Amino acid sequence: MVYQVYPRSFCDTTGTGVGDLGGLRAHLDHLVWLGVDAVWLSPICRSPMADFGYDVSAYDDVDPLFGTLADLDGLVAEAHAAGLKVLLDWVPNHTSTEHPWFAERPEFYVWVDGDPLVPPNGWVEAFGDGPAWAWDESRRQWYLHLFLPEQADLDWSNPNVVAAMHATLRFWLDRGVDGFRMDVVHCIGKGHDLPELLPGQELAPVVAIDVPFTHTLLQGIRGVLDAYGAMSIGEVYLLDTAKVATYYGTPEAPELHLSFNFPGLWAPWKAQTWRTRINEVERHLTGDRWPTWVLSNHDVPRHRTRYGSEARARAAAVLLVTLRGTPFLYAGEELGLEDAVVPADRVVDPGGRDGCRAPLPWTAEPGHGWGGGAEPWLPWPPDAAARSVASQRADEGSTLWFYRRLLAARQGSPALRSGTFAWIVAPPDVLAYLRTSGGDRRLVLVNQGAGVAAVELEGNWEVELASDGSSTPSALAGDAAVILRPV
Ligand code: GLC
Repeated sequence: MVYQVYPRSFCDTTGTGVGDLGGLRAHLDHLVWLGVDAVWLSPICRSPMADFGYDVSAYDDVDPLFGTLADLDGLVAEAHAAGLKVLLDWVPNHTSTEHPWFAERPEFYVWVDGDPLVPPNGWVEAFGDGPAWAWDESRRQWYLHLFLPEQADLDWSNPNVVAAMHATLRFWLDRGVDGFRMDVVHCIGKGHDLPELLPGQELAPVVAIDVPFTHTLLQGIRGVLDAYGAMSIGEVYLLDTAKVATYYGTPEAPELHLSFNFPGLWAPWKAQTWRTRINEVERHLTGDRWPTWVLSNHDVPRHRTRYGSEARARAAAVLLVTLRGTPFLYAGEELGLEDAVVPADRVVDPGGRDGCRAPLPWTAEPGHGWGGGAEPWLPWPPDAAARSVASQRADEGSTLWFYRRLLAARQGSPALRSGTFAWIVAPPDVLAYLRTSGGDRRLVLVNQGAGVAAVELEGNWEVELASDGSSTPSALAGDAAVILRPV
């Protein structure tokens, strides 16, 4: 179980209104209490923050807003002492245009000659409807930016880029981090040899770029990680599980250790769709290609908001934690947070993602445990006092306690952690499956319909955990889920 921290939103200890490494260090005990294994930090490197850290201007330093390298070293040491692994976000596809390379090593980027009035191809940038190209008057050339104009795409067909980026990995590995989440890593191979995209795909090149050279590059990156025994989780933003599977490489030429697989993230609360998503994973992510599951992150509305009720959010958490694969949990999910309502005058993200990045409330009183008393960079989520960690810790029926029990159920069962997966017969609205490892077995039932459902079970089973605290298989409430163990 990996817990994603968006550092800006976790906890401020310095009075800037922006979360920092001190805030994470102060709350590592929360992660331990919850039962997570590893923490992934969204980018903490130096950045002008045009994309809140996903525009890196120095890969070998911590942004002063978050702290210092010494703070990061302290965090890694404390996390390790607490039994937690630390994964950093690594942004290999592009740098900030304020990175010194952009001025000093222009050959590191994708430049194309041409007419200043006609972009080199029809690709459109990710956060807007303009071209993915910016004209540089001094060079009289276009440069590629799949995201903002402030995020220039690196040209990995240049071996010096490969060497420089490998060095950025080694910099953090030498400091003891355990691995990386790799930002839109499936795009790095587009190099200078820009792939032709089908009509329509230019509108979203990030979800369409899928070129062989990326695989060669990933094999090289894997070699750097293997020398340290470190791991990778790639953000392969291709909404096709069969394609995602190829980014794990082969046993002879391994690539990513893990990959995100976002079709599930985009699935509505509908059993028919989920069945398809799960079947795709069972078909394509087998053997060494170990699946991952994620319901929420810093780029999409929280699943509590998308699915429309806390009951569904809790039942979905059962799915997240009991499917075959490694679950990723986004900080605040365990509090049942909804997205903040962000008034027009407080909108800061050009990609419209502010709501899910609302600050985490730690205590019930105003300020919610953020130090320094500064107004946080984004508004609080709804019901921040009641949803705070302190309020929910005091209530064993809370969503926070539910997540803790859920993670403990996974931890305590080899079947849930690493067992095989098999569907069992159930009504159409119910996802029902058996997980098995040796003699250990768990049955999971998730009712995605609104009405009560009954599942006929073979053998004797008892409820280990119910998302609504009461459901039984003979009468599984609508939008409820149960984990059953044999008696
Ligand atoms: C990834 C990140 C997103 C970022 C983008 C560009 O999709 O998750 O937050 O804006 O890449 O780096």
